[in-house]
Amino acid sequence: MAGAEPPGDERTITVLRERAFAAMERAYAPYSNFRVGASLLASDGSVTEGCNVENAAFPSGICAERGAVASAVARGNRSFETILIATEAEEPTPPCGMCRQVLEEFSPHLLVVSVTRSGREARWTLDELLPRAFTPLSLDRR
Ligand code: THU
Repeated sequence: MAGAEPPGDERTITVLRERAFAAMERAYAPYSNFRVGASLLASDGSVTEGCNVENAAFPSGICAERGAVASAVARGNRSFETILIATEAEEPTPPCGMCRQVLEEFSPHLLVVSVTRSGREARWTLDELLPRAFTPLSLDRR
């Protein structure tokens, strides 16, 4: 995918939606039965997916969004434009607090899009979802 596309461009969102729902199909969520897929658009135009991976030791599970970030960083990306979250819920669901914090580290102005199978969609910016965040700069204020 070319990097020239603006983050909220409909063509971009369509690709991200397909990739996130495909990742959702690979989710491992036998305990909650709440499958989540995420696709993360990096500033270079590459897209990385994540899905939630649960565990018998419940707190060891990881969310789709953080899985996508870990995978993208491992591929060398540290700057992101958009994350799209896909679930089977009736209404679009926002990312959990821990995922907001992890996203903040790399892209405080990230566009966050959440979609449902029926086509409902919500859009936020990460600044909106996590105002007054603790950031890498906060560590310098000692
Ligand atoms: N989950 C995510 O993967 N992303 C979210 O944004 C919210 C919650 C996962 C965690 C757990 O596997 C399941 O959904 C139910 O909370």
